[in-house]
Amino acid sequence: MPAPYPSLEATVGPLTFENPFLLASGPPTASGEQIRRAFRLGWAGAVTKTITPGTMEIRDVSPRFAAWKDERSGLLGFENIELLSRRSVPYWTTEIAAIKRDHPDRVLVASIMASPDIDEWQALARIVEAAGADAIELNVSCPHGMPERGVGAAIGQHPDLIREVTRAVRQVTAAPLIVKLTPNVTDIMPAARAAVDGGADILSAINTVQCLMGIDLETLEPRPSVAGSSTYGGYSGPAVKPIGLRMISQIARELPVPLMGIGGISRWQDAAEYIAAGASAVQVCTAVMWEGAGIIRAMNAGLSGYLAEKRFPSVGALRGRALSRIGTHAALSRSVHRIAIRQFPERCASCGRCVTACRDGGYRAISIADRQVAIEKERCDGCGLCSYVCPEGVIVMLPGA
Ligand SMILES: Cc1cc2nc3c(=O)[nH]c(=O)nc-3n(C[C@H](O)[C@H](O)[C@H](O)COP(=O)(O)O)c2cc1C
Repeated sequence: MPAPYPSLEATVGPLTFENPFLLASGPPTASGEQIRRAFRLGWAGAVTKTITPGTMEIRDVSPRFAAWKDERSGLLGFENIELLSRRSVPYWTTEIAAIKRDHPDRVLVASIMASPDIDEWQALARIVEAAGADAIELNVSCPHGMPERGVGAAIGQHPDLIREVTRAVRQVTAAPLIVKLTPNVTDIMPAARAAVDGGADILSAINTVQCLMGIDLETLEPRPSVAGSSTYGGYSGPAVKPIGLRMISQIARELPVPLMGIGGISRWQDAAEYIAAGASAVQVCTAVMWEGAGIIRAMNAGLSGYLAEKRFPSVGALRGRALSRIGTHAALSRSVHRIAIRQFPERCASCGRCVTACRDGGYRAISIADRQVAIEKERCDGCGLCSYVCPEGVIVMLPGA
């Protein structure tokens, strides 16, 4: 008899989700209609596009996105210079109440940001809680536009300000409090500790990574070009997953606080990696913009199948399972040495990329003679470069003799 499929239920501090997948704050949660549709499709939770008080003017530019794409694998990295929700507080209070009426079993998180004035944060928190939000996420991490006004990452880059804002909101609400951290810091730990000190129940990470997508070499306009000029924007999508994984695992190793992993999650495997790195649930934005909210079906099915196959009885059983394997460089084994082996020689197209890489970026251990790749074991240093350069997967790294 095959093992029964485990439940995907996820517990994140005081919150319980039907599965560990939430829509992150962004274009996919810009309206109540989108959130309702996502809930119908199977998302367990959603974080609204960040709500701001009416006093904070939100005027977007056009265009406001830029993408780095690869012919074969599609989206690699995505930049946005979009601001926060352009919908009013009354719109959101009506929608939050209505969504909760329609979907009482789903978790609706209100993302908020106010001016540097603490009273505004408190007032907005009270309003979204009264409207029925299950939790509040403090956006102290938007990297573009808002920091110029003293908010967003301008708060999230200063632990004292994070603590102050979190504490102030904590004082006026009993709702579970999530603080969303910025990766645009040298060390995420002081920010994480300040949020917990201030009373956060959950941390979410990461918001976008500050970037400049590119320069059009014809016109010399930076991208995305808004009437010829640009600004530094927020980087998201597959390219930022390694940064998000690093930060989530760092926090998980040091602080006993529930975590939501964000950044570059587009397949169930990405989510499983974040969970193994310490997250209790994950949030997704760019992948939904790119492929639609329907990806939840494959994510739920894939994660469920993986848990069953690996005999993890629950999502919680996978949580943090990779953490004990992440440590200092000094602690890594020096006794294991791998060397490059032509595991699948029949696939070799004699393109010569491994030869070039090993000659100019390695140890001159690879040559081609008579259209056959040859690896000199004695010269191979075991760095692994050739196995990544080879487009056909001919070379693998195996334990050396
Ligand atoms: C176009 C766009 C708009 C976003 N707007 C918000 C926002 O209003 N509030 C917020 O907290 N994060 C916002 N984000 C950040 C996402 O919630 C998320 O943290 C980030 O994109 C990384 O996740 P991803 O790789 O799954 O997109 C936005 C991201 C994008 C791409």
